[in-house]
Amino acid sequence: MKKIILPSGFTFDYTNLFTSWGVTEADVHTYFDSIAGAVKAAVRVRSTGIVDGHLSKDGQPEAILFPQLPYIEDKNLNNETVLKRLEDLGRHAKEKVDAVVSFGIGGSYLGGKVLFDVHCGEFWNQKSEAERDGYPKLYFSGNNVDPLRTNELIATLKRSAAHKGAPYTVMLILISKSGSTIEPMSNFMVVQKALQEAGIGVEVVAVTDPRTDDKETLLHKLAVQQNWPTFAVPDGVGGRFSVFTEVGLIIGAVVGFNIREFLNGAKAMDEACQGGDPLKNPALLNAVLKYIAAEKYGRIIEIMMPYGDSLKSLSEWYVQLLAESLGKHQPKTDGRYGRTPVVAVGTTDMHAQTQEHQEGRLNKIVSFVKVKDWGTEAVVPHTYDEYKPLKAFSGLDLGVILNTALEANSEALTGDKRFNVTYELPTLSAFHLGEFMFMLCWAIFYEGQLAGVDAFNQPGVEVYKKLLGPKLAANQTEK
Ligand code: PA5
Repeated sequence: MKKIILPSGFTFDYTNLFTSWGVTEADVHTYFDSIAGAVKAAVRVRSTGIVDGHLSKDGQPEAILFPQLPYIEDKNLNNETVLKRLEDLGRHAKEKVDAVVSFGIGGSYLGGKVLFDVHCGEFWNQKSEAERDGYPKLYFSGNNVDPLRTNELIATLKRSAAHKGAPYTVMLILISKSGSTIEPMSNFMVVQKALQEAGIGVEVVAVTDPRTDDKETLLHKLAVQQNWPTFAVPDGVGGRFSVFTEVGLIIGAVVGFNIREFLNGAKAMDEACQGGDPLKNPALLNAVLKYIAAEKYGRIIEIMMPYGDSLKSLSEWYVQLLAESLGKHQPKTDGRYGRTPVVAVGTTDMHAQTQEHQEGRLNKIVSFVKVKDWGTEAVVPHTYDEYKPLKAFSGLDLGVILNTALEANSEALTGDKRFNVTYELPTLSAFHLGEFMFMLCWAIFYEGQLAGVDAFNQPGVEVYKKLLGPKLAANQTEK
């Protein structure tokens, strides 16, 4: 077995990728110089914030600050003042707020959704206040512009308010770095007006770029004008890395997720991802193997397949991280790079996608995510032991079945020399989640360096935006 096991127990098992029938040692040696270059770039970004070739949307040099996020220090983006303000907001939400609606899209949504799903699970909003330990219900909006869902959300909030029969308070957290993104802003305006008209108490919190110069965001101006408290989407951290900033942490804070432990996990992983030896640095190894698998062996698709329902959004978060960071022009060679990410969840997608993973084109890597100990048990009872097929799994815990299914899937792919890796989290704690997500951030950094792309811009998303504005203007009618 080939594994990197961190002191926390987090494990990266790359046995079925770095092998005689996969990426070989000789392959890795071929890339020795590029690997050394990527390690050097990592040292540089850590100490100076500089990534060669990276420019902001306006074509200006821009610092890359995600490496400092795990460290709660005075001079850093995450410092005690920031953490305390988040914790204060969490306390306020617990004591005074009945429901929160978070408006955001892309990087201003996906990370927070992971924290919510992992900490709260699917049935949070159906739980009693006591079961939620006093924390509010939480809904997401502004991740699309879907009139049906937005109206259903409003109806749901009105129903809850009517059911309570006492003053009901909804906190609207409006998250947008640029401060004018159509999906969150439009939904926010619809929901705010509807709740106010229904006599429901509304509090607004704005999370946006804090600058107050001539580039002040519209949302920041609004917040100042309306006296809304503000939190920062800091400069130097792109949306897809922002789960470790106030953007993601604010969602954790208002539902009682342990944001300090999450950052501690990220810190532990950051420390593990600094060395130049790929066999000891999980992010570097991950990047090297997947880069070579793509370049030399045509494995240009990555299926991110955690086992467990609450981890689907983790896979969705990774889709943005990989696609938006690496699907790019390679300036030095005038080539194109990118690996297409696909969301899958085990065991669900074993009944939908696995056929193709097992027998389809040899163009993909399957990345499994396993939670070793779910911290809960649901043992299948021996109700129908007279039926052999049911007896076969009676007496087993569902978590054991889940993880055994993952092992069987990996073994089946390996049997046909199909590339796959497994990340194992000892438990689904805030710490291990922070570790894993930060490892993936660093892996994307290293792969961007190997591929010669700027992992920190997204010029490709501007093209449709330029077309959308005039099209919307043409649809304006008086309403
Ligand atoms: O990663 C990104 O930069 C994007 O996905 C943005 O997060 C997304 O477009 C939302 O942008 P904003 O936060 O400016 O509303």
